[in-house]
Amino acid sequence: MDNRPILFFDSGIGGLSVVKEARILLPDRPYVYVADDAAFPYGAWDEAALLERMVGLFDELLARHRPVMTVIACNTASTLAIHRLRAVFPSETFVGTVPAIKPAAERTRSGLVSVLATPGTVKRQYTRDLIRDYAARCHVRLVGSENLARLAEEYMREGFVDEDEVRAEIAPCFVEQDGRRTDIVVLACTHYPFLVNRMRKTAPWPVDWIDTSEAIARRALALAADLPPAIGGTVADIAHFTSGRPPETLRRLLSGFGFATL
Ligand code: DGL
Repeated sequence: MDNRPILFFDSGIGGLSVVKEARILLPDRPYVYVADDAAFPYGAWDEAALLERMVGLFDELLARHRPVMTVIACNTASTLAIHRLRAVFPSETFVGTVPAIKPAAERTRSGLVSVLATPGTVKRQYTRDLIRDYAARCHVRLVGSENLARLAEEYMREGFVDEDEVRAEIAPCFVEQDGRRTDIVVLACTHYPFLVNRMRKTAPWPVDWIDTSEAIARRALALAADLPPAIGGTVADIAHFTSGRPPETLRRLLSGFGFATL
């Protein structure tokens, strides 16, 4: 029996899209949610500086929470740091979140696929390698959005988002070429599933929006099969924000996802 938690990590509250799916598949484990909101948005960081920050932070987080598994519920962080974290902390189990380029390439009929992500994820070598390895026969447009992660945070905290801003951020995803049109948009940031209905509404034509949350939760479930059984229900799930105790509205939101806030 084991009551060590699964730790979910993101720069903000976007990783809750993964938690939502994980709650269904792994209901018995205690959860810890960590948001490095003091450094939000990760998408704008210089790679070397962010890598150094993350390794230092994980040194503390792993010692403090002793997770049985860590889900990096953030594409921007995973595409930068997953290999390094596995190398620096070899006894830990990490689940990463990376752009769903392979499933998009398998599913597209028009051959025109867009990857909507933060500017950080778009420039990663990791992302370029996924395209080279799995989508060489497609036309993949990488769209780095400066504002969508922030808009998703605002929407989740305040319940409102300016649809014109969403429309402007997603517009570059829609390509028409030789009588063909983009038919798949990969949501390569864990914040974006919270805005997908607004995206559907403001898109110039219907597309498939690929959200990886469930696939990540399934990966965690597969790895959990090798763990000692969870005790479940005995430990409160907690959320930890690196900038300190979050405001009341955010604490209420987190309690809706099952987390008490430190
Ligand atoms: N949730 C993060 C991701 O999946 C990004 C948000 C940020 O820029 O910090 O990429």
